Amino acid sequence: MRKVMILSGAGLSAESGIRTFRDHDGLWEEYDVMKVCSAEGWEADRDLVTEFYNARRKDLADKEPNAAHRMLARLEAEYPGQILHLTQNVDDLLERAGCRELIHLHGTLTDLRCEECGAVFPVGYRSQSLEERCPECHSERVRHNVVMFGEPAPAYRHIYEAVAQSGLFVAIGTSGQVIDVVPLAREFERSILVNPKRERHITSFGDHEEYIDEAFTHFIQKKAGEASEELYGMIQGYLEG
Ligand code: OAD
Repeated sequence: MRKVMILSGAGLSAESGIRTFRDHDGLWEEYDVMKVCSAEGWEADRDLVTEFYNARRKDLADKEPNAAHRMLARLEAEYPGQILHLTQNVDDLLERAGCRELIHLHGTLTDLRCEECGAVFPVGYRSQSLEERCPECHSERVRHNVVMFGEPAPAYRHIYEAVAQSGLFVAIGTSGQVIDVVPLAREFERSILVNPKRERHITSFGDHEEYIDEAFTHFIQKKAGEASEELYGMIQGYLEG
């Protein structure tokens, strides 16, 4: 049975009105990434980091899935077990579009996590309050459920599993700067990149591509929503080919 590995990033949710990180107007232009998204920043100022994620949750509440989220949910429903979808996104727009078999590589915005017992529990779109307690062990040491720079990302093991099982790699809306998509794409005979912009490959260590799209066999230089029907057709063609 043919399988497809999909890696999505912040660009997938851009047309829903959620800001990406590294674009012009992205979140890292307003915030100092090391202050709000690193283990070091968290130890230095927990209130600042908590406020940052409270703001992200509030911002997500009124956003809606776009055509690309809906197309990916349709694929999953039509090809059960054949779509291995890993997302770097912490929003819940793919779930709201109907995705059920999704791996969140960087955690989830709509949950909190207990630092004592590790329990993960829903917070929805509301702010984390000062009175927050773990529902399991009642600890006060409660935090957002998003992976920070300088922390392990245990879900990354799914990347290697998906590479081993799939024959087509699809990367949508990622700059490739956190998860380097160039070596991943090179593992596949067929690969598709969707991004309206040509991204430079800057994590290189002995790599030769100047742009990440050069490592892919197909580059759809469009926004994810605009590319969704074309991409659906290409994935369907592979799965049924
Ligand atoms: P980035 O912000 O680094 O990159 C977003 C990419 O989406 C850029 O390459 C844009 O050109 C592209 N893009 C913008 N609009 C688009 C659209 N409408 N359709 C398709 N693509 C579009 O986001 P990621 O690569 O996802 O980590 O960032 C990876 C990680 O960096 C995030 O998961 C986050 C951040 O630190 C954590 O929060 C742990």
